[in-house]
Amino acid sequence: MTPIQPDDVEGLLNFAIKHKINLTIVGPEVPLALGIVDLFNGQGLQIFGPTKAAAQLETSKAFAKDLLKKYRIPTAQSQTFESYTSAKRYVDKCNIPIVVKADGLASGKGVYIAQTRDQAHDAINLIMKTKIFGSAGNRIVIEEYLSGEEVSVFAFTDGNQVSQLIAACDYKRAYDTGEGPNTGGMGSYSPPTFWTSTLENMILKDIVLPTLKGLEKEGITYKGILYAGLIMTSEGPKVLEFNCRFGDPECQVILPRLKTDLIEVILSVINQTL
Ligand code: AMP
Ligand code: GLY
Repeated sequence: MTPIQPDDVEGLLNFAIKHKINLTIVGPEVPLALGIVDLFNGQGLQIFGPTKAAAQLETSKAFAKDLLKKYRIPTAQSQTFESYTSAKRYVDKCNIPIVVKADGLASGKGVYIAQTRDQAHDAINLIMKTKIFGSAGNRIVIEEYLSGEEVSVFAFTDGNQVSQLIAACDYKRAYDTGEGPNTGGMGSYSPPTFWTSTLENMILKDIVLPTLKGLEKEGITYKGILYAGLIMTSEGPKVLEFNCRFGDPECQVILPRLKTDLIEVILSVINQTL
């Protein structure tokens, strides 16, 4: 353990240089958002994770939604707002329930499921006026409420090749018997009972590959692990969000299932020989 904070990317770089660290694996989203991969690459250091541009899939929900829409990847219908008044006006007319999301990183707390218009207004106020997530709330995404079972789907990719997909489910709610508030995950399990190779192929073809190809068309190569947060609606799986990392606590249930040595996989992602 070394007492360097995850947002001190210069400090991490200096540490890696000083101690001749020849492989860095990034766990959390904050250093990815700050461009730690670009920084280490610039110094010729090996690092596993997406660049700052690629990490926008997680760091900006508006970016992710634009990409999903442009490449016709199944997701909830949504609109992005930079104007507080336009957002407020929109929720006066939209269907209820409605989901209000801060655009930027909010440690998994930036999503409000509003059951009433008042709750939607409160969420917009908190994010855009009170700024409880700071500049992460400069923009918001307001999206259609979807229902269904949720599943997290993970793939290693080197920008060209994609690994087999692995799926996990979170126990989201706090307290015994899941009666508490939503969290980033109290625990998780893998694979889910409903996971089949047909479903895997469908998600690969309709979601994972078009997302990576879409990024490529935008001039962005994604290398690392792609984590798609999906919901199984009656119309099929749809994207709720993307993360650019292993997931906490999902990492604990997906890595033990890996048959290949992790370092071998990671090096092949970095060297684009997956
Ligand atoms: P996100 O950070 O976008 O994955 O949202 C966190 C959680 O909010 C998800 O895991 C879902 O439980 C819920 N959620 C997000 N978007 C929606 C939506 N459009 N409809 C229903 N629930 C949602
Ligand atoms: N378990 C959700 C996350 O890591 O974002």
